[in-house]
Amino acid sequence: MNYQEILIKGTNFLKKNKIKNPYLDTELLLSKTIDRKREEILLNIYNKVENSEIKKFKYYLSRRERKEPIAYIIGYKYFWKYKFLTNKSVLIPRPDTELIIEESLNYLPIGRSKKILDIGTGSGCIIISLIKERPKCKATALDISLKAVKVAKTNAKLHQLENKINFINIDIDKYKSSNYDLIISNPPYINSIDYNRLDDDIKSHEPKLALSGGSDGFRNINKVIKKSKKLLKIYGKLILEIGHKQKNQTVKMLKDNNFYINKISKDLSEKDRCIVSTRLK
Ligand SMILES: C[S@@+](CC[C@H](N)C(=O)[O-])C[C@H]1O[C@@H](n2cnc3c(N)ncnc32)[C@H](O)[C@@H]1O
Repeated sequence: MNYQEILIKGTNFLKKNKIKNPYLDTELLLSKTIDRKREEILLNIYNKVENSEIKKFKYYLSRRERKEPIAYIIGYKYFWKYKFLTNKSVLIPRPDTELIIEESLNYLPIGRSKKILDIGTGSGCIIISLIKERPKCKATALDISLKAVKVAKTNAKLHQLENKINFINIDIDKYKSSNYDLIISNPPYINSIDYNRLDDDIKSHEPKLALSGGSDGFRNINKVIKKSKKLLKIYGKLILEIGHKQKNQTVKMLKDNNFYINKISKDLSEKDRCIVSTRLK
């Protein structure tokens, strides 16, 4: 079989199994199988595939058939400007989370050394992207999951930042070090009802610890706000990702904890997803 025949067969198979984006996924899986870029596949469409590679390709296809996310099968996902290794211990970085990077950069002047904390770092995608942009800053990133911290450290190494970010495996409840200029967090914020309604791709494969925010979805948002009040400098900024129906309650929690709301930014679907706030006292 050549690349073209494999692409047709793979796409039809995934389509039949109701997988979204069957052509793109097949291309990515073939690219992983033969270890060549997608552009190279398209330029060499009549190249033959070896039998051992067909076997490998079928294995990847069967994982996708069982709804395993493509980022776990191929082992990476692009976020902001960079490639991040991903496995089932970490949430797959989402494009919406890039709002945190855009907003954070407004408060991190080039050449200045600000102190940043990332709560619930997962793959490390947020803090690594920020430090790539602002290398003079000092960063700490924490996560309750040891496996996630290991992935984040590997990603930091991949981007030559292993000595610039301090990764800590700890529950935010137990973290004490303070005096941060900026705290960023994309906490788990999905409520129990919405969690049960998630697509199989997400619910059966991504870590519940990274998604579930307790019965009302606010357990971790509340923790992050209360903790940030203690860990931030006065006038330090908290930049938080929230679910699209969580704006009003999160704003109330922030105000009750003496934060000033600077900005609420929307994602590409025009939904409120990122709150920038300032610790007042
Ligand atoms: C929504 S994921 C975000 C991952 C990554 N920052 C991103 O945006 O792709 C939330 C992360 O918070 C971590 N987490 C959950 N509860 C925590 C806690 N109590 N203390 C520290 N980290 C926690 C999870 O393990 C998970 O990696």
